[in-house]
Amino acid sequence: MTTVRVNPAQRLRGELRPPTDKSISHRAAILAAMAAEPVRIRGYLDAADTNSTLRAVRRLGAIVQMRTDDLLVRGTGLRDAVVPDSPIDVGNAGTLMRLLPGWLAAQAGRSYTLDGDASIRRRPVDRIAEPLRLMGAEVDATDGRLPPFTVTGAQLRSIHYELPVASAQVKSCVLLAALTADGATTVTEPAPSRDHTERMLAAAGVSVHRNGRHVTVANTDELTLEEIVVPGDASSAAFPIAAGLLVPGSRLVLRGVNVNWTRTGFVRIVERMGGIVIGDLEDEPGDEVVPREPISDLDVTAGPLVGTVVEPEEVPLAIDELPLVALLGCFAEGETVVRGAQELRLKESDRIATVVDGLRALGGTIEATADGFVVTGTGGLGGGRIASHGDHRLAMLGAVAGLASREGVEVGGMEASEVSYPRFMDDVARLM
Ligand code: S3P
Repeated sequence: MTTVRVNPAQRLRGELRPPTDKSISHRAAILAAMAAEPVRIRGYLDAADTNSTLRAVRRLGAIVQMRTDDLLVRGTGLRDAVVPDSPIDVGNAGTLMRLLPGWLAAQAGRSYTLDGDASIRRRPVDRIAEPLRLMGAEVDATDGRLPPFTVTGAQLRSIHYELPVASAQVKSCVLLAALTADGATTVTEPAPSRDHTERMLAAAGVSVHRNGRHVTVANTDELTLEEIVVPGDASSAAFPIAAGLLVPGSRLVLRGVNVNWTRTGFVRIVERMGGIVIGDLEDEPGDEVVPREPISDLDVTAGPLVGTVVEPEEVPLAIDELPLVALLGCFAEGETVVRGAQELRLKESDRIATVVDGLRALGGTIEATADGFVVTGTGGLGGGRIASHGDHRLAMLGAVAGLASREGVEVGGMEASEVSYPRFMDDVARLM
């Protein structure tokens, strides 16, 4: 385990290009593996999580060629995934674990076992098992709900599935399974969540329709995708954004960031807190499913912040950035409250517990609630030691806290950032 000491920064200046998007990279590799013709992927994220996905699709029969400027994936088609001779290791990647079964469920009569690291083994899969069973697949999970678990494919039935939680992973799993069902499948979300799968399926020639909270996908014989371009990751960009807002005198430009409306909830929360982040953000889309991802540069200026309340409908649009909202709250005037975010307990760590314990250890005033937290701003953080608990976003949160703190922060387990942002500490160093 690597412990890194991060000292307070004087000010942060300059520009950087955040790593490319983890969510979109996972989807690109899986869809390319499901396609019949070769797919070129530009900007595929080179990080631990997305490398797990490349290994997984290779084991299922896809050929992945790494070239200088891109990846070329030759897939097996929708129904011809190979059965590997041992379980597929998803590593730390929850998105891989929840999306891939949507494809595996279509492999009639064949069984696939998925397993992962210690964190993955505490993350539930019953949320995907239920709709896949309704569609006709078999799913056998440890204790009925945890990995390792086995998916046995079938000729799938189309369904209308109402998601019990606003989860883009579960929605995406059902939409992938829907491709080989015997008719059109509809998923109803309780609140909007990231829509990368819908956009990429539309780009692959699939009929995808949105009607308010309902998304309908028609079955198809094949995916036709020649090229996927992966934009910068808004969730990774959120860490330098938070540092730029908090370290006095900072001014940063982040290049090439995905500004899909379903991913920019954090920027909207920041704006409400008085933070200055300027960019060409996508407006809330109507029902049309656009087959592309919008990109913009973001310009960040440090300044005073005020507390805010994050309501349950906003949670899925900023789910991975809520730990940073807690950090900003420590520096803001007044109270910052996050409600309706019980899903945080099921992430790479229990992010309500790890964020509250971590920020308290640095001098923050923060209380956990059943579904979020309440932070009282006290003008900043002293410093101390924070543990990543093997959670990439906790590690980077600790480093940003260190830059903005009065005395510096030691981050235990900084190497967890490899999961989504391997160059994180180098990027930070370049801004000092
Ligand atoms: C993701 C969706 C979110 C998010 C995760 C990535 C995705 O999870 O927390 O990091 O790529 O679909 P849920 O959909 O389960 O909330």
